[in-house]
Amino acid sequence: MKVQVNLDGVQVGIGNESFFCKGEHNMTEFSVNKERCIKCGECIEDCVMNIIAFESEYPAIIQGKESECIQCEHCFAVCSEGAVSILGLNPDNATKLEGNLPETSKLEVLMKGRRAVRRYLKEPIPWETISGLLDVVVNSPTGRNTRQNLFTVVSDPLVMDKIREETMSGIRRAVANNAIPQGFEFYSFVVDAWDAGKDIIFRGAPHMLAVSAPKDAPCPEADTLIALTYFELLAQSMGIGTLWNGLLKWAVTAIVPELRKKIGIPEDHHIGYFMVFGRPAVRYYRTVQRGPAMINRVII
Ligand SMILES: Cc1cc2nc3c(=O)[nH]c(=O)nc-3n(C[C@H](O)[C@H](O)[C@H](O)COP(=O)(O)O)c2cc1C
Repeated sequence: MKVQVNLDGVQVGIGNESFFCKGEHNMTEFSVNKERCIKCGECIEDCVMNIIAFESEYPAIIQGKESECIQCEHCFAVCSEGAVSILGLNPDNATKLEGNLPETSKLEVLMKGRRAVRRYLKEPIPWETISGLLDVVVNSPTGRNTRQNLFTVVSDPLVMDKIREETMSGIRRAVANNAIPQGFEFYSFVVDAWDAGKDIIFRGAPHMLAVSAPKDAPCPEADTLIALTYFELLAQSMGIGTLWNGLLKWAVTAIVPELRKKIGIPEDHHIGYFMVFGRPAVRYYRTVQRGPAMINRVII
């Protein structure tokens, strides 16, 4: 497999596929505020595509290279003076990192204290909260630097009830028709449990999120799982419970495939995973104590 590297030896693609996607338009709208610029050259140094250089003393995109910009905004983020603007963005509107990062010990508690929540209140989460979460999650890294992840969200608990019903009747049909794929036979117990009043798949959650990405993206699997990990941590920091949902993913991908179309996940997308979420009907009081990590410390 041919690995593409740029002049700095940075891996930028595999085979014919670039990790980075060039902008949809050629206008990067790169500009430098000459009153603020201290000519440190950091924006030039940090540009992974090597398309910025000093021109008449100030950084500028090299003529003819504009279309190579991957819109990563590193030039914008690395400027200590807030002198660089790109894509029409105002550096004064960006959040400064200094003094605004969370304390490591608190982040550790979030990571260790996050739990798979399997008991939910019916109370819905306001759309503004859900969309606000997704506006942050869209900052998760992707192998190709365009925002190609598709967030399929159920915000209305009544829609969620419909999906729950249709999933269960689809599984019930497959069980009755002996159409459950090999390895998924346990879904007949899921139907039995449902009939006994237990929602093993959705756990009664009022909301659902699936993240998918085009199959021909360089890393759809990684992109989608990273986005869901961002979503889970941020949601749990706000007291919203989440559950990674393999049972739902397999149901949609292997047993009730018509659901995929119904909820609008494009055929040419790879479904990374499903997650259900909502206000928890359970409270956890302490972190668990897993570990130690299994480490292979290389010493050649
Ligand atoms: C990829 C993935 C898929 C999962 N699928 C399910 C599922 O379908 N149903 C479920 O109840 N839990 C599911 N879980 C939750 C795990 O069972 C859970 O992480 C494990 O029990 C440990 O609990 P904790 O997440 O609270 O640490 C899944 C977790 C992951 C990471």
